[in-house]
Amino acid sequence: MNLPPFELERYFAVHEFTAKRLLCVSDCQPLTVTELLSLSDGAAEAFAALPLGYADSRGGPALRQAICPLYDTISPDDLLVHVGAEEAIFTFFNAVVSPGDRVIVQTPCYRSLRDVPATLGATVVEWPGRQDHGWIPDLDFLKKALAEKTRAVVVNFPHNPTGALPDLDTFLEIVRMCQAAGAVLFSDEVYRLLEYDAADRLPAACDISDTAVSLGVMSKSFGLAGLRVGWVATKNAQILSGMARIKDYTSICGSPATEFLAALALERRETVLSRTKNITLENLAAAREFMARRQDRFTWAPPKAGPIAFPCLADGGDASAFAQSLLEATGALVLPGRVYGPYASHFRLGFGRAGFAEGLAVLDAFLGES
Ligand SMILES: Cc1ncc(COP(=O)(O)O)c(C=O)c1O
Repeated sequence: MNLPPFELERYFAVHEFTAKRLLCVSDCQPLTVTELLSLSDGAAEAFAALPLGYADSRGGPALRQAICPLYDTISPDDLLVHVGAEEAIFTFFNAVVSPGDRVIVQTPCYRSLRDVPATLGATVVEWPGRQDHGWIPDLDFLKKALAEKTRAVVVNFPHNPTGALPDLDTFLEIVRMCQAAGAVLFSDEVYRLLEYDAADRLPAACDISDTAVSLGVMSKSFGLAGLRVGWVATKNAQILSGMARIKDYTSICGSPATEFLAALALERRETVLSRTKNITLENLAAAREFMARRQDRFTWAPPKAGPIAFPCLADGGDASAFAQSLLEATGALVLPGRVYGPYASHFRLGFGRAGFAEGLAVLDAFLGES
């Protein structure tokens, strides 16, 4: 496979661990191992005694059992644990897509959702959202695109990079249209559970469609990206076994150490999720205040969920140049929209981490001077 450079990940490879202030990361403030182990009596001793052999390639039984309550209808046999969500994106498309297949992908998107099927020889149809429509892609477009035989449709709600979230009727209609067209719905739900208003939470696609595949991960809403634990949930046994066959060539299995910690966080999910949500909401208030005060410089569609948003330079300027001069002058990092494709005036803000408000004040001061 001749995969193109993953520009977003290359940008972070250069800057994530050298920039002084991160204003654009997509995860939430991580817990430490000690904080996590302190959530349950006896967990530290059990962790210390854990044998570090291979894990069950499906994901250990305790972990898969702990993932099930995130869904209404999913049992441990409907799950396949992966090393992060990224590995599951790779195994899904390798298992499902053949050269010449048609795949419809909501854009802008986390680029592997588009570039893995394209590299496998699929014809990728981009299904774009627009800022003035709150980044919710248009159902008429999907209806027309599905008129031609389509292997898979890819959606990501809550959305990277915009924080967009459609209403329930829109989501149900997408699921229904995919089912009627015989297209597999791949629903990237890595930011699910981080809705600002819990009433906005969408059902998981795997709970409302027997053919859909839901993608989940510990990295985002749980603030545990370093565990590298992700999974897919689906009642489509054929897809699950196809993915398992591909995974034998990537990671084979995860680590019992991180699976143990992931299961613990899932068992204590109310505590873990409310912590990340509180940090995110506090930072979001600072971002909203900033965007309202600086509307001469920036526009945005305010996010509805998750720790990221996708503002635009109001004068249509070059966000790459803006990001570069901000970094050089202050050490603060924003992510230019070009890494997502034709979004040269946009940039990503990430507000899931502690210290965001201080970073925003640095950006504010920079604007004051420029
Ligand atoms: C929408 C989306 N899907 C998948 C991933 C991959 O997640 P992970 O890094 O946990 O493998 C990311 C990471 O940023 C993402 O934003």
